[in-house]
Amino acid sequence: MNKKDIDWSNLGFGYIETEKRFVSNFKGDAWDSGALTTDATIALSECAGVLQYAQTIFEGLKAYTTNDGHIVTFRPDLNAERMEASALRLEMPAFPKDRFIDAVVEVVKANEAFVPPYGSGATLYIRPYMFGSSPVIGVKPAQEYQFRIFCTPVGPYFKGGAKPLKLRVCDLDRAAPHGTGNIKAGLNYAMSLHAIVSAHHEGFDENMYLDAATRTKVEETGGANFLFVTKDNVIVTPKSPTILPSITRRSLMTVAKDYLGLKVEEREVHVSELADFAECGLCGTAAVISPVGMVVDHGKEIKFPSGMAEMGPVTKQLYDTLTGIQMGRLKAPDGWIKVIK
Ligand SMILES: Cc1ncc(COP(=O)(O)O)c(C=O)c1O
Repeated sequence: MNKKDIDWSNLGFGYIETEKRFVSNFKGDAWDSGALTTDATIALSECAGVLQYAQTIFEGLKAYTTNDGHIVTFRPDLNAERMEASALRLEMPAFPKDRFIDAVVEVVKANEAFVPPYGSGATLYIRPYMFGSSPVIGVKPAQEYQFRIFCTPVGPYFKGGAKPLKLRVCDLDRAAPHGTGNIKAGLNYAMSLHAIVSAHHEGFDENMYLDAATRTKVEETGGANFLFVTKDNVIVTPKSPTILPSITRRSLMTVAKDYLGLKVEEREVHVSELADFAECGLCGTAAVISPVGMVVDHGKEIKFPSGMAEMGPVTKQLYDTLTGIQMGRLKAPDGWIKVIK
């Protein structure tokens, strides 16, 4: 397989059109058999449900080249399950889990020339998504849907090392109690855009969202779950019904317990206890863990002892272990790695 002539280690996190994508349509009461296509565009009714009432959901996962030259994906079954939960919440038809995994494999195989080589730090980002495609003018679910998967090579998240982030406690809410914060719906991201643009404008890297009901508990950022390390090396992650169940965070909790022998706790985390933690990180597919050095709560600076220069030691161990599993350097728990054959 000849790889594309791409400067892998200088890729950013952007869209590069690859050769093939998977498309399946839902009509009547069934998904069609679906197929790969070279057409990267979509023609839609001007009144499509997605355009009028934002009936759209998505997923994000990656394919990696391992140290022995295989191409693998990481826990795609969990992306399929989360997408099913997202679909049901927005009255969309679920795309069957086995077909979701098969389609991921098909798309990666068809774009093998775009899968970055081992050691480049780059990966292939895979984006499954689904949207209401038939016309809808009264507020109701569409009758027809399209499911697609495209992929795009993305660069190493940390160029020149993982620099700790500076967050602010955000005055806008991300998710309402009993709302859609726990699913991956486009609407959750549209409403976060103003908050992130203004955070950047004010010199912050990300927003720390709080629970909308009491504004006393830590939720997540616009695109990652929190993970804290106590001064006694206990791994703590916020428990909330209104955050997205991050696959990376769930995997890191297992890694902490089973590989590193650390105690883990999933519980409510109050803003008032932030100053007690030794380390803080953001976990998600994009970066695995991004270290957080400081949170600013309305002018009050909360600095984690791990500082603004580098990743804290426990965060680094977690990062090294999970990326070791993903890249084939460490033995994975059963079922975590799907080899693309
Ligand atoms: C709001 C939000 N939280 C958390 C995550 C991290 O989830 P995962 O680890 O499954 O990528 C993401 C990214 O998918 C996200 O968009």
